[in-house]
Amino acid sequence: MTPAPTSIVVTGASSGIGEALALHYAQRGRTLGLTGRDRDRLDGVAARCRASGCDVHTATIDVRDRAALARWLVEFDRLAPIDLAVANAGVSTGTPPGQLLEDADAADRVMEVNVLGVLNTIQPLLPLMIARGRGQIAIISSIAGLIPLADSPAYCGSKAAIRSYGLALRQRVHATGVCVNVVCPGYIATPMTDGIRGWKPLEMSLETATAHIVGGLARDRAVIAFPWPLVMAARFGAALPEWLSRVVTRPFRRVHASRPR
Ligand SMILES: NC(=O)c1ccc[n+]([C@@H]2O[C@H](COP(=O)([O-])OP(=O)(O)OC[C@H]3O[C@@H](n4cnc5c(N)ncnc54)[C@H](OP(=O)(O)O)[C@@H]3O)[C@@H](O)[C@H]2O)c1
Repeated sequence: MTPAPTSIVVTGASSGIGEALALHYAQRGRTLGLTGRDRDRLDGVAARCRASGCDVHTATIDVRDRAALARWLVEFDRLAPIDLAVANAGVSTGTPPGQLLEDADAADRVMEVNVLGVLNTIQPLLPLMIARGRGQIAIISSIAGLIPLADSPAYCGSKAAIRSYGLALRQRVHATGVCVNVVCPGYIATPMTDGIRGWKPLEMSLETATAHIVGGLARDRAVIAFPWPLVMAARFGAALPEWLSRVVTRPFRRVHASRPR
């Protein structure tokens, strides 16, 4: 088991999974560093966390702003050396109804936020954690990173990229005492999935998802993937010949009712 974290950073804490993780970790004696872009929502989450007795610092920083994010992370780390950083901020896109291709700008944004935003979060912290010989980094990927789905190439590509990056990094830093964990959730009821029309198999609540993530991090599991039937289906589908995988994944096709926020 990893030691219970005292100083925790969560990017994308103003909504959904990040908000739920922040509220879970909010306990007396802990210091939280929460980021997002929407000041009002972030302040609301911070207020609820403070009500649990913890110390909370917030920053409205776009994870694409590498320099600003690095500055804030290093400053926060000086104040409260970070035990756990959750690189969670992300956006989703898909193919709108009647369109063959994803919107090119939206696809670019997905790559910038979901891939470079994760690197921007992790890279300033790695040398600090390695120097201390401890620390944990959680990367929020997705089951979409386990199997390519035709309706969201950019999203699947971004999540596969950070899954692979995270697992390679885990091996690289293992001997230093720093843990890297990749989280691959299925469908979770958040504002992000509100925009998806169609079948969301085994969609789970934020409470259940949080329990999976927190439990997996405490056990330092390399990949924290859930729910297991969907994980098995994704792994099986990904192992099939491409033509068969195309047929098998057809029922998982989804439609985005609106552009990502
Ligand atoms: N929900 C699911 O079914 C599901 C499944 C697998 C993986 N995931 C992943 O889980 C993570 C969280 O998703 P969610 O479902 O909780 O979505 P959400 O409710 O839409 O929350 C996304 C969070 O990311 C932040 N964010 C987005 N773009 C940002 C940017 N450029 N800079 C800084 N912060 C930014 C948002 O902040 P603001 O709102 O303040 O801009 C928000 O706090 C994402 O990486 C997502 O891909 C979700």
